Amino acid sequence: MSDHAHAHAHAHEHAHDHAHDHAHGGLFLESGTESIQRCASCGHTLAALDAAASCPACDGLLDIVHVAPRDVMGAPLHGMALRAHFAQHCCARPLGSPSGVWRFESLVMPGAGSAIVSHPEGNTPLLTRPAIDRFAGIEGLRIKHEGHNPTGSFKDRGMTVGVTQAVRLGASAVACASTGNTSAALASYAAQAGIPGLVFVPAGKIALGKLAQTLGYGARTLIVRGDFDDCLRLVQDAARELGIYLLNSINPWRVEGQKTIVLEMLQQLGWESPDFIVLPAGNLGNTAAFGKALREAHALGLIDRVPRLVAVQAAGSAPFARGYRDGFATRYTVTADTIATAIRIGDPASWDRAVRAIRETNGMVLSCTDDEIIEAKVVIDAAGVGCEPASAASVAGVRQLVRDGVITPGQRVVAVLTGHVLKDPGILVDLHQRADFASANRPIEIDADVRAVARVLEQRSVV
Ligand code: F0G
Repeated sequence: MSDHAHAHAHAHEHAHDHAHDHAHGGLFLESGTESIQRCASCGHTLAALDAAASCPACDGLLDIVHVAPRDVMGAPLHGMALRAHFAQHCCARPLGSPSGVWRFESLVMPGAGSAIVSHPEGNTPLLTRPAIDRFAGIEGLRIKHEGHNPTGSFKDRGMTVGVTQAVRLGASAVACASTGNTSAALASYAAQAGIPGLVFVPAGKIALGKLAQTLGYGARTLIVRGDFDDCLRLVQDAARELGIYLLNSINPWRVEGQKTIVLEMLQQLGWESPDFIVLPAGNLGNTAAFGKALREAHALGLIDRVPRLVAVQAAGSAPFARGYRDGFATRYTVTADTIATAIRIGDPASWDRAVRAIRETNGMVLSCTDDEIIEAKVVIDAAGVGCEPASAASVAGVRQLVRDGVITPGQRVVAVLTGHVLKDPGILVDLHQRADFASANRPIEIDADVRAVARVLEQRSVV
């Protein structure tokens, strides 16, 4: 029997032990010591260390199912006790982890131990800014800024777990298709792990900062003549045929890492759920991760109320918003186009998981035009916070919901900013030099002469 076949045989045997002993509504395993992978479509199970990119029985997407968290004595950890456990593992504590992902290890990848590849990452701030409140039309809007991660986007949270899994598997190389942020994160973590990285990005549709990072961190970068959806098909074929470990967000371990955006946010809010969590959506991996985090946090008694999840798409790339409007009766695909290149995706891979996330949270899916996205970005940038275009879709979405009376005064809302302002310097330079853009902050070229400075100040109320 080849090693691979052997691993599969073992996987089935192992999975059988756990097949029927789920509790917490089947969300966690009540016995055993290891997490399993379970197909979301047909229920087929695989061992944690199986490298399959999708279900070998039906090609459905895999979900991770963990053993219900326990204390060192083996007693179940629930509610207050689990909150205390996570508090103990916060950065500055004696048992603390410097990572905002790995302090939630028991809900992410229990037992990862010495395999962990961590920058560290996470521990991103929850901000409030009066200027953003005024724009959105709500007081106390909380901004979870994932651009504060080491490579400047939330993708680091999934990638620390994905690359750790690659190490556990002894993968010879890792690969992804990307609109740029996943590729930057993969390149960085693969470099740290010493594993070759291969990325597929759409020609001409990846922001400069992301391409620059990916090259600098040393991933082999393939610029594909096609869009993101073409890249994703290509990398899946390449991974299957060349035995490279696939690290797109269809990888269930990536989803586990990205759950910690929600866990960390809830912890920052004292485990008092907000009324709404609003995030930009493209390939829908993050929407799926948020849904899983909320489902598990509720089942474990970490929160007693589930917030409504709102996914916001760019109008030119909004198949999921269209699906939402017809009750998710149809899985739409579109040819995507938007200025927000991060979410320029027409055939989202995590569709079914994201439908579940929206349904279970009584959530909503919106779309915003490029103009609305840019309007929000300009306000976020000028508040000194800054974000890349796709991220601003969340604030544009909040504004829409306030205007439509869905979000009412006094409700608590968290908007997630997914990427850093420097990810897309091209759009900033373009916007602020444009003659037809009212809020343009045009740079002024002068001679190296103080009188030239004085002349500028006479003309404009700079100080
Ligand atoms: N915001 C940013 C900044 C992103 O880079 C992405 C996705 C999203 C939002 C949407 O998240 O795909 O999980 O719905 N970027 C991927 C990439 C596609 O390749 O970096 P999603």
